[in-house]
Amino acid sequence: MAGGTDLETLPESPYPMLRSEQPRDRAEILELTAKAFSISPVTGQAVEGAPIEVGLLRELFDCEEYIPELSIVAEIDGGIAGHVISTRGWVGDEPFLGLGPIGVAPALQRRGIGSALLKETAARAAAAGEPGIALLGSPGYYPRFGYVPAVSLGVQPPEAGWGDHFQVLALPGWHDGVSGTFRFATPFERL
Ligand SMILES: CC(C)(COP(=O)(O)OP(=O)(O)OC[C@H]1O[C@@H](n2cnc3c(N)ncnc32)[C@H](O)[C@@H]1OP(=O)(O)O)[C@@H](O)C(=O)NCCC(=O)NCCS
Repeated sequence: MAGGTDLETLPESPYPMLRSEQPRDRAEILELTAKAFSISPVTGQAVEGAPIEVGLLRELFDCEEYIPELSIVAEIDGGIAGHVISTRGWVGDEPFLGLGPIGVAPALQRRGIGSALLKETAARAAAAGEPGIALLGSPGYYPRFGYVPAVSLGVQPPEAGWGDHFQVLALPGWHDGVSGTFRFATPFERL
């Protein structure tokens, strides 16, 4: 942890403060992301070297599709406990959002921080008039926040094999033009 309280020794996690990421937070966020993804969510195995999510996030911070108010940190006592980013994506030619990576400090997982970050993202995106959010993630986690298999809403994944792991949250700004294949921000194409 780059500063503030040593979060890994906190006995209880108080409710985190959610705020937009600032460029000065990035080193600490990248460090947190490396820890959160040190066990692959795909294979469940330990990752050798830096997880790919760290390089992806570094590129997302600097890409054209970066949206400052949708890079959100959960802060506890001045330390960063979690982070989520959503960047500009498209369904066909229509602007949409792509969420990820999302990570919570390993010692603070399962205390509602990821949930708080996902709800804050949806609230901010809805307020901005966005039609929806797409992500690639566990069907065991995201449906509790309203995500459904994207194909059920007419949104196809960038890769056919993603199946029910490719999920979409429809927001009040959803409209009939949202139909077709989703494309994430450019840095995802290099994965
Ligand atoms: C996924 C992650 C962001 C969730 O944040 P969190 O703060 O731990 O989550 P919350 O406390 O809000 O929610 C916890 C609940 O989500 C469930 N959950 C968390 N990750 C899950 C997953 N990958 N699959 C299924 N359920 C999951 C927990 O089992 C728990 O459910 P329960 O309350 O019924 O036991 C966090 O665990 C994390 O950083 N994991 C490592 C990185 C990662 O996998 N990122 C997402 C890639 S899609």
